[in-house]
Amino acid sequence: MPRLGVNIDHVATVRQARGVAFPDPVTAASIVELAGADGIVCHLREDRRHIQDRDLRILREIVQTQLNLEMAATEEMIRIALMTKPDIVTLVPEKREELTTEGGLDVVKNFRSLKKAIQQLRKGNIPVSLFVDPERNQIKASEGVEAEAIEIHTGHYCEAKTFAQADDELKRILDAVGEASRRDLRIAAGHGLNYVNVRRIAEIKEIEELNIGHSIIARGVLVGLDRAVREMIELIR
Ligand code: PXP
Repeated sequence: MPRLGVNIDHVATVRQARGVAFPDPVTAASIVELAGADGIVCHLREDRRHIQDRDLRILREIVQTQLNLEMAATEEMIRIALMTKPDIVTLVPEKREELTTEGGLDVVKNFRSLKKAIQQLRKGNIPVSLFVDPERNQIKASEGVEAEAIEIHTGHYCEAKTFAQADDELKRILDAVGEASRRDLRIAAGHGLNYVNVRRIAEIKEIEELNIGHSIIARGVLVGLDRAVREMIELIR
């Protein structure tokens, strides 16, 4: 059974929409842990559109499971990671204009710079995972740059429009999982997973961890809304 890491970025997105102090992703992290999740994931973006430096600092203090920091492999982020010491760093590509991380890292093309970033992080005793598309050459290169783990991008599988397309994408994921297992890389997966499509990914026994954000936070808004409205009505009356 894979572990579950919950990405809490969207809680910060709601807070930033108003520029106030709530909802606090730090509080959300505690609730997520109390509910039994195995880890907290947050992405400190260059433009600070959701998670803030303050969130990361406090998360490091209060997270009792595993804190996984998603970040771009920039000098600024490496410095912050070395200071904060998350339990693991997941390196992702980052474009300012994107709504969310769109594709995996091109480890083949950025081999030297990624290898250097990984060396810097490992010197600080921070293990590194690389977010990659399910492609053999990317996985081979991930071993070459000495990453501990990979996170396989499940976005294409999740966005498949037909069953046949989903089957094809699943085959690519299985192929990538096989390649990573042979290379002794630990395997996580994530992006776009929801309450329907997660089943076939959770069945892949080599995948140790699933990282899920949007669908869980979205579900939280809807399943929590009934109670929130009732509580306000009670107060007003
Ligand atoms: N894994 C990585 C590397 C991501 O960038 C994201 C999105 O922040 C996720 C997992 C979670 O994706 P989703 O929000 O679609 O569940």
